[in-house]
Amino acid sequence: MTSTAVGTNDATAHTGLSVRGLDVDRGGRRVVRGVDLDVAPGEIVALLGPNGAGRSSTIETLAGLLPASGGTYTCDGAALLGLRPEAIRRAGVATVLSNHRVLGGLSVRDNLLAAAGATGRERDDRVLDAIRTFPELDAHLARTAKTLSGGQQQMLALGQALVCRPRYLVIDEMSHGLAPAIVARLLEVLRQVSATGVGILLVEQFANVALRLADRAVVMSRGHVVHHGPSSRYLDDPDLLHRLYLGLDAEPGGAGEPDEPAGDQKS
Ligand SMILES: Nc1ncnc2c1ncn2[C@@H]1O[C@H](COP(=O)(O)OP(=O)(O)OP(=O)(O)O)[C@@H](O)[C@H]1O
Ligand SMILES: [Mg+2]
Repeated sequence: MTSTAVGTNDATAHTGLSVRGLDVDRGGRRVVRGVDLDVAPGEIVALLGPNGAGRSSTIETLAGLLPASGGTYTCDGAALLGLRPEAIRRAGVATVLSNHRVLGGLSVRDNLLAAAGATGRERDDRVLDAIRTFPELDAHLARTAKTLSGGQQQMLALGQALVCRPRYLVIDEMSHGLAPAIVARLLEVLRQVSATGVGILLVEQFANVALRLADRAVVMSRGHVVHHGPSSRYLDDPDLLHRLYLGLDAEPGGAGEPDEPAGDQKS
């Protein structure tokens, strides 16, 4: 078991990650529309949706990498919208993006040290904690990160998030291109981390993988939240997500606005 327990010296009440009415524009179009999300301490929430639903745009905004056009975003009561990525990290929210790249020219140890956001003994303790969480990295601490396998690099990427001792983890498509055994290992770590009280918002390409781990799911389509409920609801009715992805079965009030014009391509 890891000692990733976080916030132990923090007097702030851990009331959760809360997003209300989030709007995000990209390329002159609104791609996230009035999104509400909650993640309680220790809770795992899967953020699901078809391609282009707006999940990554939501995650990147929560990381401070994209500006929001409207809404609120708080972590344990502290307002985070508009803050820079480092400030959001310091406030307790660490993000692993789908295109996260470790610092390939640096050693594994230096990657962890660089991400630790602390100095001296505290920094060393944090790195030791990350290595306890991923003992697989222990034998490779002196290697340059670019020589690691894809799976090891993803462990390092998650280690870089954990080394900040976050109270909330926000993860976009962590398992992309990885072997099932590695994915299972990463999920096991997320389960351990959530058991220490860390809240996790998880975007995952395979919905069932996310649902088996998550307590709840929030489903987005065309920028809106169209459904939410306990994971069991989607696992028990495998066709529900399919219907939601096709634009059927949206909850009353969450059905969204008319389709965007064609030409909906990433730049
Ligand atoms: N850099 C960008 N510039 C302009 N529009 C973008 C950009 N990135 C994404 N979009 C658009 O924003 C909308 C939401 O995309 P987003 O990547 O957030 O969705 P997603 O749910 O993560 O889907 P997927 O991961 O399958 O691509 C889409 O219409 C997409 O084309
Ligand atoms: Mg995405």
